[in-house]
Amino acid sequence: MTAPLEHLDLAGPLKQVRKALPHDSAEKHVRGTAEYIDDMVEPVGTLHVVPGWAKDAVRGSLQSVGLEDVKSAPGVVEVLTVADIRGINDCSSAFGDDPVLAEEEILFHGQVVFAVVGETREAARKAALKAKIEVTPSTPILTPDDAMDADTTVMPDYQFRRGSPETGMPASEEVLSGTMYIGGQEHFYLEGQIAMALPQEDGGMLVYSSTQHPTEIQHTVAKVLGVPDAAVTAEVRRMGGGFGGKESQANQWAALAALAAQKTGRACKMRLDRDDDMIMTGKRHDFKVEWKVGHDGTGKIRAVDIQFLARCGYSADLSLGVNDRTMFHADSSYFYPDALIRSRRLRTDTCSNTAFRGFGGPQGMLAAERMIDAIAIQTGRDPLEIRKLNFYDAEHNLTPYGMPVEEHELMLDLVEKLEKSSDYWTRREEVARFNSQNAVLKKGLALTPVKFGISFTLKQLNQAGALVHLYTDGSIHLNHGGTEMGQGLNQKVAQVVAEEFGVTLDKVRITATNTSKVPNTAPTAASSGTDLNAMAARKAAREIKERLITYIREQYQCGPEAIHFGDNKVLVGGEAFPLAAIAKQAFAARIQLSHAGFYATPGITWDRDSVTGRPFFYFAYGGACSEVTIDTMTGEMSVDRVDILHDVGHSLNPAIDLGQIEGGFVQGMGWLTTEELVWDEKGHLRTHAPSTYKIPTASDVPEDFRVDLYESDGNPQATVYRSKAVGEPPVMLANSVFCAVNDAVASLNPGEVPALDAPATPEAIMKAVQDMRRRKGTQ
Ligand code: MTE
Ligand code: MOS
Repeated sequence: MTAPLEHLDLAGPLKQVRKALPHDSAEKHVRGTAEYIDDMVEPVGTLHVVPGWAKDAVRGSLQSVGLEDVKSAPGVVEVLTVADIRGINDCSSAFGDDPVLAEEEILFHGQVVFAVVGETREAARKAALKAKIEVTPSTPILTPDDAMDADTTVMPDYQFRRGSPETGMPASEEVLSGTMYIGGQEHFYLEGQIAMALPQEDGGMLVYSSTQHPTEIQHTVAKVLGVPDAAVTAEVRRMGGGFGGKESQANQWAALAALAAQKTGRACKMRLDRDDDMIMTGKRHDFKVEWKVGHDGTGKIRAVDIQFLARCGYSADLSLGVNDRTMFHADSSYFYPDALIRSRRLRTDTCSNTAFRGFGGPQGMLAAERMIDAIAIQTGRDPLEIRKLNFYDAEHNLTPYGMPVEEHELMLDLVEKLEKSSDYWTRREEVARFNSQNAVLKKGLALTPVKFGISFTLKQLNQAGALVHLYTDGSIHLNHGGTEMGQGLNQKVAQVVAEEFGVTLDKVRITATNTSKVPNTAPTAASSGTDLNAMAARKAAREIKERLITYIREQYQCGPEAIHFGDNKVLVGGEAFPLAAIAKQAFAARIQLSHAGFYATPGITWDRDSVTGRPFFYFAYGGACSEVTIDTMTGEMSVDRVDILHDVGHSLNPAIDLGQIEGGFVQGMGWLTTEELVWDEKGHLRTHAPSTYKIPTASDVPEDFRVDLYESDGNPQATVYRSKAVGEPPVMLANSVFCAVNDAVASLNPGEVPALDAPATPEAIMKAVQDMRRRKGTQ
């Protein structure tokens, strides 16, 4: 029986956790020796798989698929169609609506119809272009507005309601409303989608996949091949970034590689070309948001009615959870007495939108900040005042979905510390002065909060397993169900295991995630990788340690207080043994030195059907203050200074956490300022390469960038060493950049709410500026 862990959290000086240690692969990343799937030594005879698709079609029915010229092209070994699928033609996570290969319908521009298996990737790519695919087109539904007109959804509408906005709204002294478009985002992981499948004995399949969800790769491959789950093993050592884009959308490529391997009996690798990757895979959901807010005349909110219209694409994918999370975050950090929060998950003939860092939360929060900014502009008060006026507090601490905000004091404290450290009020005056003295350049300033719910809102995913072996030389094999995508999960889990055994990190071997070692895992997502897997690993390590302690007590006739693990040694009374010596002795005494640990997050009771219960174990908090300058002649914008204060509880590794905060912020800033997805009227994605899609680069990092961890008393919940999740919340710190741009535009015409949509590209800023001037009559 594993002893309770909590008492250990503060016991003794910690040697490995809460230390700013480098990422285990940092040096390998820089040297280029960290192995990704495309770096692996290919088995002799490896073939290459390339997707074939109808380049002009958007929506329509397949009339004919002419593949003769493809088959006879040089270097082609096989051409796969839906007829080659022995199992089920579906690679969806849950809803059964994602065909691996098109059957009769083309569902979107980028639908895979066939796959070429070639001796080389080049040969297969050239051959794929020779297909003659005829499609009878139908009129595509492309935008949220189209889908609203056609009334097409991927799943039923859903809503949270508290009180009665129907009465609360008209009873409010002031009512404001508006519409806002919030754009999507391409993941742009540096390593694109890739999988390599190796046929095994008796119809088995070993699949290396760049995935956040190895278990789902295993299930999907088994389902498509028509073999039992136990015949398939999925493995991933690391991804070159996932950001949510490999939570469900690695499935199709793994399935196709495995299908090719099943058909040819040879190892098959599928690596998507970047343009294909961008065209075929889903992105962050884009939204049309219709909002209405009533307040008491001073800016205190009385009622909110907000409707989220999401472009989900051609299938459900993860749209249920993503859009629920949008709704869960439509309050940002503010108390809404009467609230109606509605969501429509619109079906469009476009790629199937999916998880993206924040999982819908950022869109929900941005809509809330828009309402706050509108109230501030209308009342003539400072947006920060309106924000704080509406913060959750002791009396008003229930979210619209009924979960209490337990750390509202921390939230306010964090924001007030940031208010001071960023010198908000002085700079507010400086910005006003600058704007009064400059006709062309205008500055904007905004300080916005982050409150992000940690846990999967699908309760069953809040579990994890880990496998730990202690070998007789004292070295430790560590395996867990989480996947590494650059976020430092493996490093953090290794630190926790090293702490438990009292060893240095070089004794702990990090190994590839593998479904045959730790089965039935959740995806590494919802920022909960460390919370879940480090707990499971700690339990495994602790169990082995307990067995050693029991053995030592019998062998050396001592109490547990005489035994201490540390400095790669075990102290027994006054005597120090190398851990290896104790491991050898225990082995000789036939004690099991391996254990599988398991953890399930406690206290989560969310019931979606009845809209009751607690969806999150806790919240992570943060705040950011951004200052920008816009050029009202060109729409150009620069982010001049950013101050961030972010809450990670007691950090397991402050260096890694700071990296996540900086990276998350910059990625969020890209989403809200430069990354624009453009589909033309035909339904073709026009921004399918870095030449037309602008992600932030190192030079876009704000010149003056001050990032700090909030000094915390630790997570009030019993997480591992009282840490908090950090993966996604920092994305939403970038809302401050958007709000600062809005603030700059608003300065042109006080009292008027700018018509600024996201992303605030130079074009969008120009449009909003011109609109403001038109309204003022100065243009
Ligand atoms: N950081 C890096 N470097 N690369 C990534 O792909 N993904 C993000 C975040 N940070 C990502 C990242 C997303 S979407 C999530 S959900 C979390 O990491 C997942 O890892 P964690 O649960 O271990 O934090
Ligand atoms: Mo992250 S969007 O939960 O993979």
